[in-house]
Amino acid sequence: MQKIGDSYFPTKEFKDGAWLNDDSIYEKAKKDPIKFWEDLAKELFWFKSWKKGFLHKPPYFQWFLDGKINITSDIFEKNNLDFKILKNKTALIWEAEPPEEKSRTFTYQELFKEVCQFANALKKLGVKKGDRVGIYLPVIPEVVISMLACARIGAVHSVVFSAFSPQALKVRLQDTAAKVLITADGYYRRGQVINLKQNADEGIKETEVKKTIVVRRAKNEVFWDEKKDAWYEDLIKDEKDFCEAEVMDAEDAFFILYTSGSTGKPKGCLHVCGGYTVQSYWTGKWIFDFHSDDIFWCTSDPGWITGHTYAIYSPLLNGITSLLFEGAPDFPTPDRWAQIVEKHKVSIFYTAPTAIRMFEKYGAEILSKYKFENLRLLGSVGEPIDEAAWLWYFREVGREKCPIVDTWWQTETGGILITSLPGIGPFKPAFTGLPFPGVKVDILDEKGKPCPKDVQGNLVILPPFSPGMFRGIYKNPEKYLETYWSQYGKEIYFTSDGALKDGNDLIRIIGRVDDVIKVAGHRVSTGELEAAINGHNEISECAVIGVPDEIKGEVPVAFVSYNDKKGVAEEVKKEVIDQIKKEIGPIALPKEVYLVEDLPKTRSGKIMRRILKRLFTGEELGDLSTLSNPESVEKIKNIIRK
Ligand code: PRX
Repeated sequence: MQKIGDSYFPTKEFKDGAWLNDDSIYEKAKKDPIKFWEDLAKELFWFKSWKKGFLHKPPYFQWFLDGKINITSDIFEKNNLDFKILKNKTALIWEAEPPEEKSRTFTYQELFKEVCQFANALKKLGVKKGDRVGIYLPVIPEVVISMLACARIGAVHSVVFSAFSPQALKVRLQDTAAKVLITADGYYRRGQVINLKQNADEGIKETEVKKTIVVRRAKNEVFWDEKKDAWYEDLIKDEKDFCEAEVMDAEDAFFILYTSGSTGKPKGCLHVCGGYTVQSYWTGKWIFDFHSDDIFWCTSDPGWITGHTYAIYSPLLNGITSLLFEGAPDFPTPDRWAQIVEKHKVSIFYTAPTAIRMFEKYGAEILSKYKFENLRLLGSVGEPIDEAAWLWYFREVGREKCPIVDTWWQTETGGILITSLPGIGPFKPAFTGLPFPGVKVDILDEKGKPCPKDVQGNLVILPPFSPGMFRGIYKNPEKYLETYWSQYGKEIYFTSDGALKDGNDLIRIIGRVDDVIKVAGHRVSTGELEAAINGHNEISECAVIGVPDEIKGEVPVAFVSYNDKKGVAEEVKKEVIDQIKKEIGPIALPKEVYLVEDLPKTRSGKIMRRILKRLFTGEELGDLSTLSNPESVEKIKNIIRK
């Protein structure tokens, strides 16, 4: 890599081999973004071409109208099997958590066969185009097979992260009204077997789920209901190896994925078939520079959007090999992730800053025995990467030869929208880069005026947005309008991220400006955590804030209004944590729980979370005159000090 000023640029060798190495692409795309995306879309396989590229009826928009497509036909029939080029190529490598367990691999042909078998089995169970199917699986190949089988028959998958609690599963299943749930007996996490079936049984109570399909993974004992439960392997074993692809309209629903917003209830982001396929294919090809012999490891669980798009759909559309890993990257040894990179000759590694900071904390010495010879490109996603972590990643993992693409996007955007392109650069620590060709963004102040360079404002996306962006919140048009299209009107998408531009228009993401916090890259809303805590019988009021954390970026801290007359403070704190585990899961447990007499409030009764945050971080408190109970502040300060 070449360093010029404070930025890095790709070597000539990397540039020469990259799909994109000329920045004129940006100008070309800017001239007519709709035509630009339409030209890109032509490279995919369509049963029938679209009639109109883009239609805007603010706040709604559509792409590739009347086009007919199926993502699985692109993955298997066009790219791979029809052309008979890639059918024996490895599509998936799966590494189990127990290091002694054998890896599993699937060629494109093997994967296609099993996808078709399972698609046929789902059909036999009565699953039809448009039906929602819940998927609550750990990171095992069957999560990929299940998603693709749904896509094959036009069923709408809704994947729920396997570490979410039964209650969190229930809320999502109730919203989608799924009748079928695909889960597993259990899985390994840090050496323990987690009984996932038990969580699934609990989660489907009070939902419309009639059938639970269970993949046998950990061979743990599970409760069995003959009428309701079926083993995955029994269902597929006599099914035919071929299932005709359902012809999908470009704007037909593809999947629903829930994410956290400002309120307690998660939002179901609805993605559609055509635009998502086009965007997944091209963003992967250009941003990760996928070439046929690449082995790509995206460490995200398929339960998140990063896993959907870059562990599964994008690499498979590009005909390369995707690696999935069941366990934690530092288990059973801190360098497990490095062992996997070496063992499977990973060439592109895509992870979150939290993981990078954790690797850094373990020290670079443990990496000295690894050569990382196959690595040629690194990626970062999910939260801002600070300069120190960026440089560590660059030196210790990329060995100063790999470009780093810091990729900004959201569950809502379906794919990466801002980043540097690896064959072009520049790669500037802590800056994510430029909008992807064909994408228009801006940074606006509160009034909607563009911010000058170096001034922080709100990041927005302008028409024609991008083909793979979501089309709405499932069953909740009001929330869609209110969350994204009210700050600056119906034609400007508000991302809820603060950002700034440098003199070269490179974008730096500062972080969320709403009540969402990114805990180890996971998106949770403080409102959701508060709703969980308020579920406790004796608690009626609390406030959760996000505070900086050295490794996880941000972590929640809870202030709970509780009068400890009985001297049971420690138990109550534990119950608060249990409440969050029960309602959400273990992904976002508070770093601290403070029991306080009273929370600082305005005269109209609004809790001043800003003051709590400053009390915790020790910043200047500012004006307290608007508080109805200023005396609460000093008391809380003393509690924190203790
Ligand atoms: O705040 C931004 C942050 O993650 C949010 C989206 O979270 P989620 O929907 O879970 O999707 C995460 C993976 C795409 C954004 O609003 N974020 C995402 N990528 C970056 C980022 N913050 C800084 N830098 C990034 N590269």
